[in-house]
Amino acid sequence: MRGRKPRRSRRALWTRLTILAFTTAACASNAPQDTLKPEGPVARQADNLFKPVFWIAVAIFVLVEGAVVYFSWHFRRRSDADAPKQIHGNKRLEILWTILPAALMAGIAIPTVITIFDVAQRPTGADVLNVKVTGHQWWWEYEYTELKTQGGQPIKTANELVIPTGRWVYLSMTSTDVIHSFWVPKLAGKQDVIPNKITNLKLLAEHAGVYRGQCAEFCAVSHANMRLRAIALSPADFDTWVRGQQRPAPLPTDLQVLSILTNPQTCAACHTIDGIRGAGGQELVQGVIGPNLTHFASRGTFAGSTFDLTAQNLFRWIDNPTAMKPLTSGHPGDAPTMRDYQLTRDQIDAIVAYLMSLR
Ligand code: CUA
Repeated sequence: MRGRKPRRSRRALWTRLTILAFTTAACASNAPQDTLKPEGPVARQADNLFKPVFWIAVAIFVLVEGAVVYFSWHFRRRSDADAPKQIHGNKRLEILWTILPAALMAGIAIPTVITIFDVAQRPTGADVLNVKVTGHQWWWEYEYTELKTQGGQPIKTANELVIPTGRWVYLSMTSTDVIHSFWVPKLAGKQDVIPNKITNLKLLAEHAGVYRGQCAEFCAVSHANMRLRAIALSPADFDTWVRGQQRPAPLPTDLQVLSILTNPQTCAACHTIDGIRGAGGQELVQGVIGPNLTHFASRGTFAGSTFDLTAQNLFRWIDNPTAMKPLTSGHPGDAPTMRDYQLTRDQIDAIVAYLMSLR
């Protein structure tokens, strides 16, 4: 018996602290993924649905809870003498409280369904930027289908979706493994990204800026590390970015770096760097199951936008990726992921130096 009381009060204390922590966490003034501050027409459409529904719900809450409190107080049992008359059912009331919520639900459903179809509709006009999005455990791949590199391939990048301001972007999305969900709260609602199926989402950023997002569908161990950014640039800056992405990467001057990057047992098993060839100048078969690294250092983050791209972080990542981010759930069907290839410090330093030059 002894000791039980303090334990209970400690538990009560922890419960209160947890509730307090959650409450105060909700008050952040600089929340980068705030759905309540839309910065584009698609997010605003969702907001325009949310706000009236919220206030209708508030009104119903106040009415219903107010009635419950009022009735339980006003008609409370004061003595055994005024026990209430027992009744069974009231047809008129029951019809009323069936029809009213049904009408309300229908009223909410009509604009909601229209909006759901509308946000997946291909935007009209010739100026639409089409991007193919592929969800991978645990990073995002973007392919700018109509913007070709000097080698004639579509521009490919990862995790950071670079878009021009004021122009419609139409995403065609799929997944190579499990269901993910693409979500940049300030620009658009969530859209599931499903294997063997194409789902669509359109978005438009009104102002230049970095809009943070994340995968919003649980997709195993590193779901929380599957973040993303939409980076909106002015049309002129976007054109500059495109021209940069069109160029092939420079060859590494360090032959050791070249041999590691082009080794089909290590980097080249998963990653492509446009423009590099084998030491003898021969064409290479490079992997496409990991992020395209041709302009790796033009991105500000890596590994599912989880880490800032700095030389230190990149060193730690190549040295021991799973120490930074869980990369496999251990199931037999797991996708191959970044591994520790037992490189020496000098080798890693040389690779980091080369990758950080790929702007
Ligand atoms: Cu991908 Cu969660």
